[in-house]
Amino acid sequence: MSKIIKLRARQILDSRGNPTVEAELISEKACITASVPSGESTGKHEAFELRDNEKAYYGKGVLKAVKNVNTVIAKNCKGMLVEEQAKLDTKLTSLDGTRNKRRLGANAILSVSMASCRAAAQETHTLLAEYVKELYQAKKLTLPCPIFNLIEGGKHAGNKLSMQEYWLMPTGAKNFSEALRIGSEVYHELGSILEKRFGKNALNVGLEGGYAPQYQCAEEPMDAILEAVQNLGYWKKIKLGLDSAATSFWNGKSYLFEEKEITSEQLKQRYIDIAKSYPLLAIEDAFHEEDFLGFSLLQKKLKKLMIIGDDLTVTNVDRIKKALEYKSCNSLLVKINQVGTITETLKACKLARNNKWKLIVSHRSGETSDDFIADLAVGISAGFIKAGAPCRGERLAKYNRLLRLEEWLGKKARYVKI
Ligand code: PGA
Ligand code: ZN
Repeated sequence: MSKIIKLRARQILDSRGNPTVEAELISEKACITASVPSGESTGKHEAFELRDNEKAYYGKGVLKAVKNVNTVIAKNCKGMLVEEQAKLDTKLTSLDGTRNKRRLGANAILSVSMASCRAAAQETHTLLAEYVKELYQAKKLTLPCPIFNLIEGGKHAGNKLSMQEYWLMPTGAKNFSEALRIGSEVYHELGSILEKRFGKNALNVGLEGGYAPQYQCAEEPMDAILEAVQNLGYWKKIKLGLDSAATSFWNGKSYLFEEKEITSEQLKQRYIDIAKSYPLLAIEDAFHEEDFLGFSLLQKKLKKLMIIGDDLTVTNVDRIKKALEYKSCNSLLVKINQVGTITETLKACKLARNNKWKLIVSHRSGETSDDFIADLAVGISAGFIKAGAPCRGERLAKYNRLLRLEEWLGKKARYVKI
């Protein structure tokens, strides 16, 4: 056991060039840093991300959050034991005292919560993944199936696609490294296909490294991905998935889809048609963030699919309970900054897992090279990790960490069987 001796934070930049918080924690036995991610298509019910709203960085500075770590949080958390994660997280939330962490900022709080967890792992000479397994009281460690975002639309790209993400899921790979190889090869093959079709500017990418070609029709990206898969002979090893991020094209009355206004019922029918024609395994945020009923009607129709809540559930126990009541989903997207502490993240995962939901640990569109979520996915034995395209350093930080974990853990962590 060792105490926190020094805690401080600084402002660094994320993959979008926007400020974010990095915490540095020095304990009696460890010295580590941790940095927090940030979303673009954020849910209304997420924990509060504190930004300065001043001239610097177009209002996006995080110096107030940094100051909160350096003053209130440091003063009150010094002397606490890094191994007591739950106690520290309770302290952090009570120092804040608000429902959504708006006083100190979830970005300030999360940086410290992550730092403490990482420091405790370092001190006990265990991998963070193994340490998380103990915290979560998981039965086993598992290498997750990566979810690659190959084509981007919505708020993440400058094209006309309504849906935000088109995924390749190498569910038939024999291990994580084969899954990564499939992802990378399909990504490059897809690049050649898009370049032939649209010219070089189709190789421009969105916020998560996926291509952003000038498609508009929802099915076209899936056709292009499947063409790449077919060329490489990976047909039997993959499935497709979608993140609609439907709140981003909901105007309060209808969905603005492919530049037309459509109803929830019409959107549902479109998903059903897609599921009939494509090897689809998952749909995330199929409807807007308050539409618990819409989700549940879809789930009734597409029983075999993973119906994933993201903006709907925001890694929040109360929202998950509501989704359970409505039978809105069967899978949870897990984003640590949606809730703001590691303990609350694990609680949300437990609730979902106890109700037989699948877990997908996820990055944000604004990322850093911090690879915490790779260990989190292994430690809680999540079936999946979503960390963007197999491209761009902040995305590869997670996938490459999983390659290392695969090697280091050997037989201790098998690749998930789907
Ligand atoms: P975000 O997007 O990080 O911009 O919220 C990711 C997602 O919607 O899953
Ligand atoms: Zn999403």
